[in-house]
Amino acid sequence: MTLKIAQVGMGRWGQNWAKNPIPTVEELEVVAWVDASAESLREARTELDLDPDRCFLSVDEMLGTVDVDGVLITAALPGHVPVAEAALKAGKHVLTEKPFAPSVADAQRLVDLADRQDRVLMVSQNYRFFPAPRLAAQLTADQSVGALYAVELVFRRQIYEPPARHAALVQPLLMDMAIHHFDLLRMVLGREPEAVYCHSWQPPTSKFNDPPAAAMVVQFGGGIVVTYQGSWVSTGPVTPWAGEWRMECTEGEILWTSRGGSNGSIEGDWVKVRKPGAAEKNVPLPTLRHRGRAGSLAAFAETVTSGNAPDYTSLGRDNIGSLRFMQAAIKSAAIGKPVEIGD
Ligand SMILES: NC(=O)c1ccc[n+]([C@@H]2O[C@H](COP(=O)([O-])OP(=O)(O)OC[C@H]3O[C@@H](n4cnc5c(N)ncnc54)[C@H](O)[C@@H]3O)[C@@H](O)[C@H]2O)c1
Repeated sequence: MTLKIAQVGMGRWGQNWAKNPIPTVEELEVVAWVDASAESLREARTELDLDPDRCFLSVDEMLGTVDVDGVLITAALPGHVPVAEAALKAGKHVLTEKPFAPSVADAQRLVDLADRQDRVLMVSQNYRFFPAPRLAAQLTADQSVGALYAVELVFRRQIYEPPARHAALVQPLLMDMAIHHFDLLRMVLGREPEAVYCHSWQPPTSKFNDPPAAAMVVQFGGGIVVTYQGSWVSTGPVTPWAGEWRMECTEGEILWTSRGGSNGSIEGDWVKVRKPGAAEKNVPLPTLRHRGRAGSLAAFAETVTSGNAPDYTSLGRDNIGSLRFMQAAIKSAAIGKPVEIGD
């Protein structure tokens, strides 16, 4: 069965979705496009040669006109909750871009609505659909290098001219980017964070309105300690998007990185194991049928059609854990003290 979906949010990234991952997933077909901005919609219509009768300025108008099974939200964050709410109320399944929602309370409201409506609500945490984090999660769970007890994670970019979307955000590193790292930490460690102490700041290289750099110490369950440093405006060498990971275990280290390429390319993925006194070894990566956003789309289609979410999928109810982690980091940065991450 091919799912019919509408895509809402046809800005820069939405157009990239339409060109790259969507055509590679045969389990679904996009039959309508929505953007609240006439300019974005016009640009997308021209660029992607869309059927003008299937292009709409509001999700309600689209829902009243076209028959769809689900809605893919690629709008910017302020659109995520209202669009998901309208779609779920109309009985549609929803796959949304990250970050899920601006607050845990909003996200919980959507999760409850999806449960009442018996619809799938999923967040596209595309970094989960790459071979290196999958392998790192497996090596951690199997204790292949002993028990994990410490993680160092570093992320650096050189975005000296912030895009408009970032200029509008509070904590643009923590909200927009580190949400991927928070979510990957939960997936790879297979544990939940318990407390975070975060400091964010404005480096002299920054033109962002709000801090584009942060450092934090996170206490995970099982006594695992994570240290994180991230910056949009570093003068140091750029890291792959998933960051550079060094995971210290009782018998050695797991080193890895991911998402060095674009549009689901795995050329930047690798995992190495280093044991004291032995040469560093590359570990062969698993093969994934669909990668990145195509992985999210295929997982969404499978969950809708079979009723079962594949492993590592980020259903809305699970993604609340990543959002809670992010909000605790933002709160810690605001009050200058450690924050416990409760249920
Ligand atoms: N996962 C990733 O790797 C990744 C990478 C880039 C962007 N993103 C995410 O993709 C989303 C979009 O990013 P972007 O760079 O395209 O932003 P953008 O600001 O360029 O475009 C967003 C579009 O959404 C539209 N929009 C906003 N609210 C709407 C609503 N209620 N109904 C219909 N349309 C609405 C806007 O008019 C705009 O055209 C963001 O959530 C961003 O975090 C994810």
